Amino acid sequence: MGEFVRVEVDGQIATIRLDRPKMNALNAQVSGEIAAAAAEVSGDGAIRAVIVYGGERVFAAGADIKEMAPLGVAEMAAYAARLQAALNDVAGIPKPVIAAITGYALGGGLELALCADFRVLGESAKVGQPEIQLGVIPGAGGTQRLPRLIGPAKAKDLIFTGRHVAAAEALAIGLADKVVPDAEVYQAARDMAAQYANGPAVALRAAKQAIDRGLEVDLATGLDIERLHFASLYATEDQKNGMRSFMENGPGKAVFE
Ligand code: CAA
Repeated sequence: MGEFVRVEVDGQIATIRLDRPKMNALNAQVSGEIAAAAAEVSGDGAIRAVIVYGGERVFAAGADIKEMAPLGVAEMAAYAARLQAALNDVAGIPKPVIAAITGYALGGGLELALCADFRVLGESAKVGQPEIQLGVIPGAGGTQRLPRLIGPAKAKDLIFTGRHVAAAEALAIGLADKVVPDAEVYQAARDMAAQYANGPAVALRAAKQAIDRGLEVDLATGLDIERLHFASLYATEDQKNGMRSFMENGPGKAVFE
């Protein structure tokens, strides 16, 4: 349990809760605590889905500018490497991950949200990559994950201008998956997480890894990755249970552990 990042478990769903007043700025300590939280939820087999949440007011206003401003080149390289590594740990959580966003998700805050599988936004949420206005560029995955998600031209518009994007536009360009009234953001994320929590966990992990790794490689390599995961699932009880249930009871009736 970190000072600024808590893991709260309720049933099969864990919430990684950022809580660093006033804006959940991601300083070096928060980076370390995010990495620890990602390791904790990844390693706990009872947790079947994860929500990343910054509370009712703000998701995260980015890396801590006051901490970063005085750093030199070498120190900044190490700082960015730690933040990237922490966010990679979130992207690598082998379970469905949903970012529940109220208020601002800017800079490193949006980059954290880009590491989730889905993004639920409150109606008045604002997201963006404002680093250009600080004379720098996104340094925690924004130039890589954002274009992969919304395409290069839209990502360039957001990164070149640094403008804040409202929830409705975020939905239209695929940056948000769902927009709900602000007060319902966390519950909407829980409802989404619950949809994925009861399926076969090993198959779900294989699907996530095949999709995410596949997006990083050429099609032939991606198909190799898919086929190897597919075949390996024949070593699981879920495969036997799932196919037996189909043959005995028809589609969609299997109950998984
Ligand atoms: N780092 C450090 N402190 C921050 C911060 C940040 N990223 N964002 C906000 N704060 C602080 C403010 O300095 C202020 O502190 P004080 O009360 O002590 O003065 C407090 O949070 C509240 O902020 P504002 O008074 O500015 O509140 P607002 O409601 O008027 O505006 C905001 C909110 C739009 C989020 C505005 O604060 C803002 O634009 N913040 C900076 C956003 C940004 O540029 N993020 C990118 C950071 S760089 C990065 O993330 C690099 C990377 O990719 C790794």
